[in-house]
Order: sequence, then structure tokens, then C-alpha cells
Amino acid sequence: GVDSAPGGSGGGGDAKIVLGFAQVGAESGWRTANTKSVQDAAKDAGIDLKFSDAQQKQENQIKAIRSYIQQKVDVIAFSPVVESGWDTVLKEAKTANIPVVLTDRAVDSADDSLYVTFLGSDFVAEGKKAGDWVVKEFADASTVKIAQLEGTTGSAPAIDRAEGFADVIKADPKFTIVASQTGDFTRAGGKQVTEALLKSNPDINLIYAHNDDMGLGAIEAIEAAGKVPGQDIKLVTVDAVKDGMTALSEGKINFIVECSPLLGPQLMDVVKKVKAGESVEKRILTEETTFTPEQAKEALPSRQY
Ligand code: AHR
Repeated sequence: GVDSAPGGSGGGGDAKIVLGFAQVGAESGWRTANTKSVQDAAKDAGIDLKFSDAQQKQENQIKAIRSYIQQKVDVIAFSPVVESGWDTVLKEAKTANIPVVLTDRAVDSADDSLYVTFLGSDFVAEGKKAGDWVVKEFADASTVKIAQLEGTTGSAPAIDRAEGFADVIKADPKFTIVASQTGDFTRAGGKQVTEALLKSNPDINLIYAHNDDMGLGAIEAIEAAGKVPGQDIKLVTVDAVKDGMTALSEGKINFIVECSPLLGPQLMDVVKKVKAGESVEKRILTEETTFTPEQAKEALPSRQY
């Protein structure tokens, strides 16, 4: 039980695993909870975590990954801000023999030997769950005008949540997406887009927001326009963070599809296995549910984030 000196030269069999983690940013409540989960889990697992925040910029993430390669960390994990453009830096990690774990978001690289595994949610399934709820909720309506608040352009959750949702609602032509714009997964973005939207499309029936934060911003804009969120305009969002769940319990949001940010413990397990040379599944899925206002009221008191 003696702590090994950092960077200690040889001999010690208990040298800490060094993990470099390149986070997307701090754009949402989800992201804050995800960062905390990774930091807490690293501590609990005795893993030396090097953490960087890319402020939603791919070039910053690439720089961080390159610096982890230079520092010769044992494992690199990252949540890619967008899907494309990673092959070069991933090849550099591979050449340096440093295994890479994708957490939360995927890359669209054709060569899947560039990463060990992808740990996170099925975003297409989340979009489908949102769509399924809409179909039921508006079963008796003859036309439904929908506005979509998209996540960060080019990111896996924005692409996949749009796709899953569109797949479900296309079955009935009464559903039309009359506007679809990015709010970059932020509350301010959701508010701004909704303000403009309410002017160009004042008769929308529903807003589908790719995350809670943008939905919360939309609520502010709807209220400022003198309308009642959850009634005049219904809202379905993704994440189920505390502020989202609170709005759901108050009937301002009507339905939330859960996306769990608590990936830290699973990530540390994977990192240990990879370091020990054990094999891991190429795709590790997160378990998730959905919430109605009643279910939100029940879940809120014990909600961790
Ligand atoms: O990648 C996960 C998404 O990123 C979350 O749903 C969103 O809130 C976050 O910004």
C-alpha cells in the first residue's frame, strides 16, 4: 500500500495507469455530469487522469490528443465533438501504440482498428423513442407542425437523434418538420433559435430538442412570447438531467428520453482491461429509459445529476 512516485523509474509494480481524456467542453448539464463521473471514477479506480476541455472545438481536441501521445499516456479516451476528421490523429496514436477508447460519441472512420471500443448510448434509438412518444401523443391530431432544435452540427448525437426521430414520424404525412436548426446543445442556443422560430412559425405544435438544455432555453423563449410551454407548444427532449426533469415534473416539458452521462465507472473498467491486455467488446451500450411527468416526480429526489 505505498504510493508509487509519479514517473518513478522502474521496479514498482503498482505504477498508476495514466489516462488522457479529451472532453468536448462544458456545453450542457449532461456534459458537466459526465465530466464529474469520469473524474470521480478515475479517483475511485486509482487511475491518474489527465483531463482537457476542448470548448466544443475539434482542433482543441486534436491538440489535446497529440499532447497525450507525446506524454506517452497508457490510454487515451475522448468524446469526439464531431464525427468526421479523426483518422490522422487516430493513426498517430496507433503508431505510438496507445489504445484509444471512444466514450459517448462515435467517429465515422472506416477503419475501426483505430479505436478499441466505443462506449456510450444508442442515439438513433433515443431519436426513435422521442418519435414514438410523438406519434402516441398526437394520435388524434390531423396535422402536427414540428420544430427541431438540433445539437452541434456534425456531432453523432445530432445526426443520429434526427435520423431516429425522422424514421418514426415519416410513417404518417400529418407530421411535418417545419423548421430544424442547431442550438449547439446549449441553453442560450435553444433560446435564440426558438425566439426566431416563434416569429417565423408561430403555429408550431411541438418542439423536439436534441437535449434538455436547448429545451430549457426554448421554454424561456416560449414564455417570453406569452405562450404556455407544455400546453400551447409541447416539448420532447433528450438527457434527463435534473433541470430537465424538474421542468418535466412541472409540465413544461412533456416527455424526456434518457441519455446517461454516468460513463465514468464503465470507462475505468475498460481502461484497466485494455492496459492488462484483455479484450473488450467493440461496442458497449449504455442502459437507458424514458420519463413522463409522473415518473420524473418520482425519480427526482434520488436523481444524482
Ligand atoms: O453526446 C451527448 C450529448 O452531448 C448530450 O445529449 C448533450 O446534452 C451533450 O451536450
